[in-house]
Amino acid sequence: MMRGLWILATLGLVAAEDGLNGWLRYARLPGNNTKQAIVPSSIVALNSTETSPVYVAGQELQKGIKGILGKTVDVTSESVDGPSIVVGTIDAFTAAGGDTDVIPELEEDGFWLNTEGDTIEIVGQNECGVLYGVFEYLSLLGQGNFTKVTKATNPSASIRWVNQWDNMDGTIERGFAGLSIFFEKNVTVANTTRVSEYARLLASIRVNGIIVNNVNANPIILSDENMAGLGRIADAMRPWGVRVGISLNFASPQTFGGLSTFGPLDESVIAWWGDITNKLYEKVPDMAGYLVKANSEGQPGPLTYNRTLAEGANLFANAVKPHGGIVMFRAFVYDSVNLNESNWKDDRANAAVDFFRDLDGDFDDNVVVQVKYGPIDFQVREAPSPLFAHLQQTASAIELQVTQEYLGQQCHLVYLPPLWKQILNFDLRVDGEKSVIGTDILSGKRFGKELTGYAAVVNVGHNATWLGSHLAMSNLYAYGWLAWDPTDNEVTILQDWTRLTFGSDKTIIDTITKMSMESWPAYENYTGNLGIQTLTDITGPHYGPNPQSMDNNPWGQWTRADATSIGMDRTVWNGTGFAGQYPSEIAAQFETIETTPEELLLWFHHVPYTHVLSTGATVIQHFYDAHYAGAETAASFPTQWAKLVGLVDPQRFDETLFRLMYQAGHAIVWRDAISQFYHNISSIADERARVGSHPWRIEAEDMQLNGYRITVVTPFEVASGLRIVQTVDNTTAASVSTTLNYPAGTYDLAVGYYDLYEGKASYELFLNDESLGSWVGDLEDRLGYTLTRGIDGHSATRVTFRRVAIEEGDVMRIETVPNGRETAPLDYLAVLPPGVVDQGVLGAGYVRGLNTIQYFKDRVYYGL
Ligand SMILES: *[C@@H]1O[C@H](CO)[C@@H](O)[C@H](O)[C@H]1NC(C)=O
Ligand SMILES: *[C@@H]1O[C@H](CO)[C@@H](O)[C@H](O)[C@H]1NC(C)=O
Ligand SMILES: *[C@@H]1O[C@H](CO)[C@@H](O)[C@H](O)[C@H]1NC(C)=O
Ligand SMILES: *[C@@H]1O[C@H](CO)[C@@H](O)[C@H](O)[C@H]1NC(C)=O
Ligand SMILES: *[C@@H]1O[C@H](CO)[C@@H](O)[C@H](O)[C@H]1NC(C)=O
Ligand SMILES: *[C@@H]1O[C@H](CO)[C@@H](O)[C@H](O)[C@H]1NC(C)=O
Ligand SMILES: *[C@@H]1O[C@H](CO)[C@@H](O)[C@H](O)[C@H]1NC(C)=O
Ligand SMILES: *[C@@H]1O[C@H](CO)[C@@H](O)[C@H](O)[C@H]1NC(C)=O
Ligand SMILES: *[C@@H]1O[C@H](CO)[C@@H](O)[C@H](O)[C@H]1NC(C)=O
Ligand SMILES: *[C@@H]1O[C@H](CO)[C@@H](O)[C@H](O)[C@H]1NC(C)=O
Ligand SMILES: *[C@@H]1O[C@H](CO)[C@@H](O)[C@H](O)[C@H]1NC(C)=O
Repeated sequence: MMRGLWILATLGLVAAEDGLNGWLRYARLPGNNTKQAIVPSSIVALNSTETSPVYVAGQELQKGIKGILGKTVDVTSESVDGPSIVVGTIDAFTAAGGDTDVIPELEEDGFWLNTEGDTIEIVGQNECGVLYGVFEYLSLLGQGNFTKVTKATNPSASIRWVNQWDNMDGTIERGFAGLSIFFEKNVTVANTTRVSEYARLLASIRVNGIIVNNVNANPIILSDENMAGLGRIADAMRPWGVRVGISLNFASPQTFGGLSTFGPLDESVIAWWGDITNKLYEKVPDMAGYLVKANSEGQPGPLTYNRTLAEGANLFANAVKPHGGIVMFRAFVYDSVNLNESNWKDDRANAAVDFFRDLDGDFDDNVVVQVKYGPIDFQVREAPSPLFAHLQQTASAIELQVTQEYLGQQCHLVYLPPLWKQILNFDLRVDGEKSVIGTDILSGKRFGKELTGYAAVVNVGHNATWLGSHLAMSNLYAYGWLAWDPTDNEVTILQDWTRLTFGSDKTIIDTITKMSMESWPAYENYTGNLGIQTLTDITGPHYGPNPQSMDNNPWGQWTRADATSIGMDRTVWNGTGFAGQYPSEIAAQFETIETTPEELLLWFHHVPYTHVLSTGATVIQHFYDAHYAGAETAASFPTQWAKLVGLVDPQRFDETLFRLMYQAGHAIVWRDAISQFYHNISSIADERARVGSHPWRIEAEDMQLNGYRITVVTPFEVASGLRIVQTVDNTTAASVSTTLNYPAGTYDLAVGYYDLYEGKASYELFLNDESLGSWVGDLEDRLGYTLTRGIDGHSATRVTFRRVAIEEGDVMRIETVPNGRETAPLDYLAVLPPGVVDQGVLGAGYVRGLNTIQYFKDRVYYGL
């Protein structure tokens, strides 16, 4: 017994890990590897102060080497005799007598890393650069990569920020991982431990700025108490080289300051903002600046006073200019009230260019227009924003979203860099010249700009995993690397992250690479394809399926699906004219169906469902096929992950497996709902006869009901067979039962049901009178997606019981106890024979009442 435990402990596989250290675990390398590592026995940190990033770099190096190699290395701040690791700015390095002749020119935040000689040199252009160099060196060590490196690297852009959408009350808009680490009860938190831990993660991916509060800003951030709190937050992040800024509410002078106006040209308003800004800089002397969402989705702004957006932005630019601050001004301005789908030419996608094109040249030089990657809103696929081509006198930054708002809310695995790269690599051909969004425009090179770059919305919360999901952290990691160098390879980044997060075992690397690289295409397949956007509930949670919510409202995320045709006609000749917002070569490409890339067909064109694609399939058949293929891919994720049993520590293995099983089930919900919806609206049958036909399902409404009633749901397509059953009241135990008319054999049993919040119904499945297991509707406590009160596409889910032996004529019964508002809603029971599982898809969902590791061990090792 003792011996067994000892062996496990030395393999390093038993220690539970909660994810708090992200990719900065500094896990001990396997013994053989360590021998190749030759690391000097002292660190010389040429620090300026004890809170400088150089000092922190020295400490981090000591900690990392101790963790990775088990070796204690001293840190001093003066040169030593013999080999050492010298870390410092180029000025400090020169002053200490270092040889700088060989170091190529470093730009702001850039660094030089040289491991060739006895003495390892990590030299930064500034203090941040030193820290970045140290993290790169530790990343190599952590991956067991002892290649000799001599390199200088500089950032592609100076702005590499994250935006938190944290509310002052501690909630997070689109937060899926617990409450804010910055605010609670309308004040900044007193305990900044998590804040500095977050800054450490950000520094390691070279992020140099953060906006800490939601763009839908509460002016109370400007109270004296909160300004002092911002000072504490900035103090916690400064040692990591992360500068703090805040989002502003345009109406603050009136709603918070008590002025009669917030008009941007009003003298009293200008003076008020000047005063507020000066006070802020007293607390945060290196404040990065402001982020402003104005005249967007109900937010106040300069247009309220008939002033231009540029006049609004410049108000703040003037206030921060003397302090060296900048203003990030969001381009997400559109009319969400008057757009009318009856007008074929109306198009929300036109808004950003319509609002900003004529203002180019009017913005002060410390204003940066922050542009979402696509013209609508973080959809699963969008054409790149054409605004990047129009901001030539004005600095611009791209807004990406690590937060998976429309992309599975961190409950679905979706590795985002392939999506981002497809935007960053796009050549807009401004004036017929190469104008690649990442390397030419965001780098500032194409239009000669200093202040350009990247912002990513991130929703880290109090959860130990930061994002709610261990695998979602690869997106945060990759964001930093791509902002530094948009040409970095997304697979290489992923594999570096994997080695640092889970270890270098080949099975781990291969499995996580395969799953991650399949994940965005799969998600696109089962949510919305051909550029139709994520077919989700756009007026609600942005999570589960609800395609009809997209049309017939002024939000403008239209699909224009009718009985015969679908898609947005964005051509110039006959549509909204959006295609014409691109430079001419690109505009011409998007103008015709033949030259539009097929993945954007329905983004740019309105076509009949019978339009034939290059594969020979019609649009509608492609919808069906893609939804089935996507759900099938998602169904393979739990089995792929299961290969890592014993290779990944139990806590992270289990938490990840649970999410992947949930995803596989929810992907079937998506597949069925979207297929059923378009089948219904188009009346065109699936050539492969899968849609609307479920030979292995017994609908709950066809069972014997005891204490249950039959109802419909909204939207209708999220119920198999269009109906479900719910308990008659929400206190009395009830049941459904059915006779199984299937040949004797072993089957997987999947129950489709709905898990609402405000209630935890309990369920028990019986075969004849033998209990097969029970579960509780408590996903609301376990997953973190946006909750709804409804029986809908968000709450729809599945539970699977595997390998159940049944005889023909057996009776299956589900006994339930409703709870709160949860009326134990049931959709169907699927009885899935081996191999023929729910129309070709491996039956998935998640397994309750079983230890998942044990389950997969049994399955994998004993071939059950
Ligand atoms: C470590 O070295 C031993 C002996 O050389 C070898 O048998 C073993 O496979 C090595 N382990 C790894 C992980 O390389
Ligand atoms: C640098 O850090 C050391 C601790 O490692 C400290 O003793 C020293 O005072 C610091 N140097 C300066 C100039 O602050
Ligand atoms: C080791 O790091 C170097 C420098 O970053 C890189 O070029 C090389 O590909 C890495 N080797 C492996 C096996 O990852
Ligand atoms: C926080 O501020 C909001 C107004 O923005 C107010 O409605 C709420 O009651 C406040 N909460 C607390 C705990 O003070
Ligand atoms: C501050 O928070 C950290 C982690 O979030 C916790 O470990 C620590 O105990 C807290 N400190 C105090 C004084 O509450
Ligand atoms: C803005 O202009 C419109 C039309 O030109 C006018 O009706 C309105 O009163 C003006 N609003 C303000 C606040 O000046
Ligand atoms: C949209 O336009 C149609 C046709 O012009 C009109 O009948 C309808 O009232 C408009 N809807 C709204 C909400 O303005
Ligand atoms: C052109 O636009 C009209 C609406 O104005 C639409 O009904 C028609 O289908 C479009 N024609 C083509 C060929 O897309
Ligand atoms: C997506 O769907 C297409 C069309 O059915 C299919 O060819 C492709 O393999 C699918 N990809 C994934 C990752 O599911
Ligand atoms: C993290 O959040 C999930 C739900 O989102 C929850 O199940 C889990 O308990 C949380 N873990 C911690 C450590 O807060
Ligand atoms: C029972 O459900 C109804 C709606 O279905 C709800 O209004 C009521 O509050 C629920 N009762 C309890 C105790 O939650």
